[in-house]
Amino acid sequence: MTHDQSVIRNFCIIAHIDHGKSTLADRLIERTNTVAARDMRSQLLDTMDIERERGITIKLQPVRMQYRDRATNEQFELNLIDTPGHVDFTYEVSRSLAAVEGALLLVDATQGIQAQTLTTLHQAQAQGLTIIPVINKIDLPHAEPEATAQEVMTLLGVSDDDILFVSGKTGEGVDDLLEAIVARIPAPHGQSNAPTRALIFDSRFDIYRGVVVSVRMVDGQIAARSGIRLMATEAVDAADEVGYLSPSLVPDTVLSTGQIGYVVTGLKNVSEARVGDTITLSSNIAVDALPGYKTVAPMVYAGVFPSDGDVNTLRTALEKLALNDASLLFEPDSSDAFGLGFRCGFLGLLHLEIVKERLRREFSIEPIVTTPSVSYRERDDHGRIIYAEPWVRAEIVAPQAYVGNLMSLCQDRRGNYQRTEYLGDRIILHYELPLSEIIVDFYDVLKSVSAGYASLNYELLDYREGDLVKLTILVAGDPIDVLSQIVDREHAFSRGQAVVKRLKELIPRQNFEVALQAAVGGKIVARETVSAVRKDVTAGLYGGDRSRKDKLLKKQAEGKKKMRKLGKVDIPSDVFTQLLKRND
Ligand code: GTP
Repeated sequence: MTHDQSVIRNFCIIAHIDHGKSTLADRLIERTNTVAARDMRSQLLDTMDIERERGITIKLQPVRMQYRDRATNEQFELNLIDTPGHVDFTYEVSRSLAAVEGALLLVDATQGIQAQTLTTLHQAQAQGLTIIPVINKIDLPHAEPEATAQEVMTLLGVSDDDILFVSGKTGEGVDDLLEAIVARIPAPHGQSNAPTRALIFDSRFDIYRGVVVSVRMVDGQIAARSGIRLMATEAVDAADEVGYLSPSLVPDTVLSTGQIGYVVTGLKNVSEARVGDTITLSSNIAVDALPGYKTVAPMVYAGVFPSDGDVNTLRTALEKLALNDASLLFEPDSSDAFGLGFRCGFLGLLHLEIVKERLRREFSIEPIVTTPSVSYRERDDHGRIIYAEPWVRAEIVAPQAYVGNLMSLCQDRRGNYQRTEYLGDRIILHYELPLSEIIVDFYDVLKSVSAGYASLNYELLDYREGDLVKLTILVAGDPIDVLSQIVDREHAFSRGQAVVKRLKELIPRQNFEVALQAAVGGKIVARETVSAVRKDVTAGLYGGDRSRKDKLLKKQAEGKKKMRKLGKVDIPSDVFTQLLKRND
């Protein structure tokens, strides 16, 4: 253990999903003998089950490595922070950037630079980090390291010599990379005698130990068992234990200036020790908190209801999830169709999917989730409701050949064109778009009109008023609250038609005629009818095969169980997931 800041190097890896961040991290851990070879398993830093299965990084995991420089034989302490690659977790990325002095810009030699990478790169540059460009996957036969390097040179204004070429798979180039990290990334230079300030860049709840935070020591130190204070939330506690990840928890006596490590706090809820907050010592409180504490606002909302009506179990489950996920917001809600439930706020659709999945796996709850939407603001203008909606600033990176398709997609989604940047053979399109236009299926369409090449990133801009109206959906004359939505007037007619058409496909025939209507301000804009029928599934079968008949009847009975009452009508529970995909 060393307390000399000059031998510390703190860095993270900026990369697009699947460009090989976790694999490269595995090689670094291996080369520095941080983990005994027998304990090595691939993607060591991705610890959550869902992360492993999907191969994506959701939570940051810092790792400390000891590295002896080949040239000077000097011993260094390297702290690597793995960062989430998905747009939903942008704030966590920005905090981890604030915790380091350097970043590896990792680019897949078969893919080139992607939109999300760009946004993170801009943030890293704005924070003054030293960027080391690294071209990865050079072992692949179809890799184009030179063309990729060209893009990176244009983007960063660096020369060919500055770029490293590696393969996270074979380990080629990894030793040179370690040397470059030590040589190019500056050591931290905090004040060891100043009052303690530690930046929290990750916070998680452990049921045995309480809230465990990952911190970057900026000034001063935190010794085990010292009294600590969170500057934003004013929570006070003792540091039950301090240490570092290697990559399992290794307790230590003290965390010193410039180091990265963890603090076990004993707090019971991550909202008391949130990402971006500053830890100081109760005995010597720092005057100013570190910049960067921010409550992250949800981008997407959806109603979450228990499919079995058991709202208490769902509440307990959401409360437990929130202990560990400060960005999951929920408040009681009720719907005519589903009774009591919750209106939940998420960082994005991936976040929503993860919560849904965790409810299933960890709590055996099969939730009904209504169509996600953004949050609208409304004001009354002489009896007329005016809605405002959130807008985002979007960057789309794609080969030049697709620019026409992409621009008409953005135009179609009410986008405001800003400008085009050129990056070798590829372009960066800058647009402003309503968030509601991109949360549902924008990404799928983006991929399909660009043969899979385009990538997207966005950040919240502001709220803007627009010509927005409330589209009410009626089933057999009853307005169905969970199906109503706010849409722009121009698309109200086509949206309404699309919804009732989809509903017609999804609602089984009843023994009475069912009218499906879409209305704006009391005026019906679309109508479909599900005609009445007595359903006899065995009608098509002839002959005396009893067992076949029984099987069908049984299947029908099981189908019935998944039905719900919607006004006077039976509706399949998964109708909302089906309705998610827009087809206008
Ligand atoms: P996220 O965690 O989702 O951000 O992905 P990641 O960037 O960590 O990517 P990961 O390390 O999971 O690698 C993605 C895929 O690329 C995996 O199938 C890896 O085996 C493969 N891969 C990573 N590095 C290399 C490489 O250098 N060469 C080859 N051939 N494949 C690689």
